[in-house]
Parts: sequence; structure tokens; C-alpha cells
Amino acid sequence: MPQTPFYYYDLALLRRTLDALQAAIRPDDPFRVHYAFKACYNADVARTIRDRGLGADCVSEGEVARLLELGFPADRLVFAGVGKTDAAIDRAVQAGIGAFNVENLQELEVISQRAAALGQTARVALRINPGVDAHTHEKITTGLPENKFGIALEDTLTAISRAHQLPALQFVGLHFHIGSQVLDASLFAPLCDVINRLQDDVEAAGFTMSYINVGGGLGIDYEHPDEHPVPDFESYFAVFRQGLRLRPGQTVHFELGRSIVGQCGTLITRVLFVKEGKEKRFAILDAGFTDLVRVAMYGAYHAIENLSARPGEPVEPYDVAGPVCESSDVFAVDRPLPRTRRGDLFAIRSAGAYGHVMASTYNYRPLPAEYSGDGPFKPEAVSVPAQKRQ
Ligand code: LLP
Repeated sequence: MPQTPFYYYDLALLRRTLDALQAAIRPDDPFRVHYAFKACYNADVARTIRDRGLGADCVSEGEVARLLELGFPADRLVFAGVGKTDAAIDRAVQAGIGAFNVENLQELEVISQRAAALGQTARVALRINPGVDAHTHEKITTGLPENKFGIALEDTLTAISRAHQLPALQFVGLHFHIGSQVLDASLFAPLCDVINRLQDDVEAAGFTMSYINVGGGLGIDYEHPDEHPVPDFESYFAVFRQGLRLRPGQTVHFELGRSIVGQCGTLITRVLFVKEGKEKRFAILDAGFTDLVRVAMYGAYHAIENLSARPGEPVEPYDVAGPVCESSDVFAVDRPLPRTRRGDLFAIRSAGAYGHVMASTYNYRPLPAEYSGDGPFKPEAVSVPAQKRQ
């Protein structure tokens, strides 16, 4: 068993998830899925996704470079992000990426200038803020007018005209993203309505586009990872199949992150101490918010298991805390767990998305290692380090 804490990725579950995703797309659906790479950088995970022919959505120069290194074809990359640097734009233009998702009018000018200077044409989609509420956590909602993301709905035609005037740009589509961890697929129906109305206006103004990118956001069941290890892709795609009025030849792009990789990752950690407080009992782990920040940052819920639990032990409430010198370094409050002892192994579940990628070295802690295997985590099965970010 390697040193804890570490991440473990179940590649068999990842493949099952990809099977379900691909089976939910019918042969005549003009749907293309891009993996939102920001969710998980693990090389084994990324290669498994690449081998299924998915493209990828990236948001920084580093992500573009890493995806190319991992063998994703450049023309299947879309590059989003509110603040693209000039160096990142140049790199993406030179690589010949599929498209930029452009977030504001100034960025449109800059991409045109940089592409012209490189003697190239850049394909651009415009990110439009649809004003649709994803009913998700306020820190991960993006589609409301007061967010920093995207071009205002009413400026769409102006932005499309500008993209046509600028010399080194090819306008290819519109991009939307309403937010993340959306559990009720029907919340995407209002997005389809906005897109349909907008598409009528765009057409009336004499413009065409080859695709609509509806972003990502499909959620996972953090409370019951074993009951729902694979998200309901059928219902998700059905909303768009029914809701969008596509023009002949148009395709729909999806940028899914969490729903593809979320359930396949687990943070494995050891109990350092059991502290009997006056009012409470604490299980103090060797993993902290430096390893998984979602609970401290968003108040997220992650299922926690004691992998060392002995049969017949009583279940008692524990505050499960990390070692970092901050009172917010707590993974759960009053969580019922079988009686816990020093040295027990814990699994923090559903940590495949926005887990390792958001880890930090605060308190001079090392980043957690990453391992992968086929099937659920078993201590004896993990020995070989997976390739970390090389
Ligand atoms: N497309 C765009 C433009 C995005 O901003 C995002 C996520 C995605 C696609 C992928 O969304 P997904 O399918 O994974 O929901 N760190 C937060 C989540 C931040 C999501 C950021 N954008 C968390 O741990 O919950």
C-alpha cells in the first residue's frame, strides 16, 4: 500500500461510464462530446477518454499543451476561459485547435490580431451568457447575467457581425454553459428555448453556424455513489434531442467533466487520531482540504467510508477533519460511521472530478499521489504509481 493520502481511479468504472455515455447517443444524433479536462488531469483517465474518440475542452495554455501531449487531436480541442493570455492564444492557433470559445468582444479582436500575425485563421465560437438559472451552488453557477462569463444575450448579433468583419477569424458557432452539478436534466430545457430563439434571430440577420455548444454541467450522485455510479446520460441527451431546433448539418457539442470522471475517483486517507472531545468525537485524517477542497470551498457533500470497519461495530457520529491549520478543514460534521480507530483507512468517495486538480501545497504539504486500477479500490491491488503529470 502506498503512502496515504492518495487518489485512486477505477478505470473499469470509467469505461462503464463512457459506454453509457456513448450508448445514450443515437447514431443519427449529431452530438460531439468534449471532455472538460479541468475536472481531472490523470494520464490514465485522460487516455481512456481519448481512446473513445472524445474531444476535450481546455481552459489554459497548460491544458492545451498537456492534451496535445496526451495525444488528443488538435482539431478536437476547444479552448474556453474568460482570461486567455496572448501566449495561450498563439499556442492554440499554431496547434490548429478546433475552436476558441470567445468570452468578450475585446478577446475577439485580440484573437484576430494574433492569428493574422501568425498567418492563420482562427475558428471562433462566441460564448453567450443565456441568463438561465442552473439552480446549483452559487459558486458554480455561470449562466446568470451577473456572472463574469460570456457575452450578454442582447449583444450576440453585434458580436457575430464583428467576428465576420475581422480578418483572421472564421465564425463557427455559439457556446453556452449554465453551471455545474446540475442533477435535474430538465433544467437544460430553458437553455434550449433560449438557443432556439437566438438561432432564429441569428438566421434572420443572415448568419449561419455549424454548431451549438451547450457546455457541460450534468451532475453526479454524491450521496449514493454505489447506487448511481453512472449518471443518467439518456435523460440528459434526450432534453437536447427534443429541445433544440437544429438546422440541417448542424452539430451539438457537449463539454462534460464531472459526469464522466466524478464517480471513478476516490481519495484514500488514514485516520491519524481519534480525539474524544467534550461534546464531539473527531476522526482526524492525514488528508486535508489541500488534497480535496470541495467541502471547505463549496460546502459540498462527499460520502465517507471506513474501509477498516470491523463487523458488528456500533455506528457513531464523527466530525471528520483534516490536519491543515484552518478550522474549515473539515470533511463532515456528525457523520455516522462505524467505530473508528487510529490507523483505519478511509475512502472519500466521488472525488474524481475537481479533486486532485484543485489540490494545493498549503502548509508545505506534498500533492497527493495518483494511482489507478480496474475495479473498486483494494489496498493490496495498488502498488504501481500511475503516471503523474509528466
Ligand atoms: N464548460 C465550461 C465552460 C465550464 O466552465 C465547465 C466547468 C465545464 C464545461 C464542465 O462542467 P462539468 O460537466 O464538469 O459540470 N470546481 C467545481 C466545479 C467548477 C466547474 C467549472 N466549470 C466543483 O468542484 O464543483
